Amino acid sequence: MLRGKKILVGVSGGIAAYKSAEVVSRLRKLGAEVHVAMTKGATEFIAPLTLRTLSMNPVHVEMFEEPKRWNVEHIALAEHVDAVLVAPATANLLAKMAVGIADDFLSTVLLATRAPIFVAPAMNHAMFHHSATQQNLETLRTRSVRVIGPDTGFQACGTDGDGRMSEPVEIVKILVDFLTSSKLLEGKKALVTAGGTQEPLDPVRYLGNRSSGRMGYAIAQALQEAGAETILVSAPTDLPVPHEVKRISVMTAQEMHDAVLEQFPKMDVVIKAAAVADYRPKENASQKIKKQGTSLWVELVPNPDILAELGKIKSTQILVGFAAETENLIANAQDKMRRKNVDMLVANDVTRPGSGFGSFTNSVSFLFPDGRRIDLPQMNKLEVARHLRDEIAGLLGVTKE
Ligand code: CTP
Repeated sequence: MLRGKKILVGVSGGIAAYKSAEVVSRLRKLGAEVHVAMTKGATEFIAPLTLRTLSMNPVHVEMFEEPKRWNVEHIALAEHVDAVLVAPATANLLAKMAVGIADDFLSTVLLATRAPIFVAPAMNHAMFHHSATQQNLETLRTRSVRVIGPDTGFQACGTDGDGRMSEPVEIVKILVDFLTSSKLLEGKKALVTAGGTQEPLDPVRYLGNRSSGRMGYAIAQALQEAGAETILVSAPTDLPVPHEVKRISVMTAQEMHDAVLEQFPKMDVVIKAAAVADYRPKENASQKIKKQGTSLWVELVPNPDILAELGKIKSTQILVGFAAETENLIANAQDKMRRKNVDMLVANDVTRPGSGFGSFTNSVSFLFPDGRRIDLPQMNKLEVARHLRDEIAGLLGVTKE
């Protein structure tokens, strides 16, 4: 499955370093060419000889050791690998990655590479939950670093909690999944809408909603990872644009409508994750509205329903809608799927804890017009996005190698 793929496995200094031997061995058995870079700390836990023997390649530890071939080795490795996996990734290494410190071979390769990076954190649960570590992980995620685990369970320090490195079999599965699907949507054009539209009342006020844009941005990232040429039509948010995704910034539902309709004929798939205001104030006052001491009446007029319009005009495009509901989730969502003529609907109960607006996680159901339904457990929005992407690939008739 991994024949022809080059993978760099980085090992940092935690007790889980002994499990890196199994990771390397599994990757080799699947046909990958494996290179290993260890921190000095890692060599205290597992001998370089073990990883050299299993990978059948020299192991890199020192920055200034005699080169094995005539090239700048950390740059050569950084440029030629298909993926970098750090397992285990200690809190210290994650912190160095987050700020860009390059003070040994592994951290230098991590800064020099443009290959996709995976990290499998492993540490004591208090260190994992420390806000420094959590913020570092968040920073890395926004730079498209993929975080695997950690698991919950017995820890080497004698306690129970989150922070155990994911099992090697799981880590390798995720890597295989990525490396075999990275070309899945190559040649396809995708458009994602994200964020909550803002409908101006006057020069300083607007009607808005609680959408953070995170789900739409994660979907754009997942589509791009699979090789799709991806456009994000985004309402205002502070989120960074995912790597190699083109963003078209809009504010109102009408602007989103115009941008989406212009792009629609060229698209293979359109995903409407944005929370679009159904109404806008009839008047947008040219000056700030002054308080009068009496009730203020604002007349609202309907906005275009972008998704419904696309459902009417679509030809070959795959159209995916979202249903943010606060009651009767599945019944309302099924009704929306039919009314808007979509090929797939993501139903989202926004009242559930850890779900919907502003949250980093989501628990959704995928509904299809043929009655098929997939209920996903609560997971990170990027993981939801990757599941969604794989379903879309299925609807487009492309499957993994
Ligand atoms: N949508 C849209 N244009 C609108 C309103 C919604 O394109 N003016 C899209 C959203 O992007 C989403 C889907 O329609 O993909 C459903 O949005 P939602 O707010 O849940 O549904 P509404 O159509 O607004 O229906 P209702 O308010 O009756 O729940």
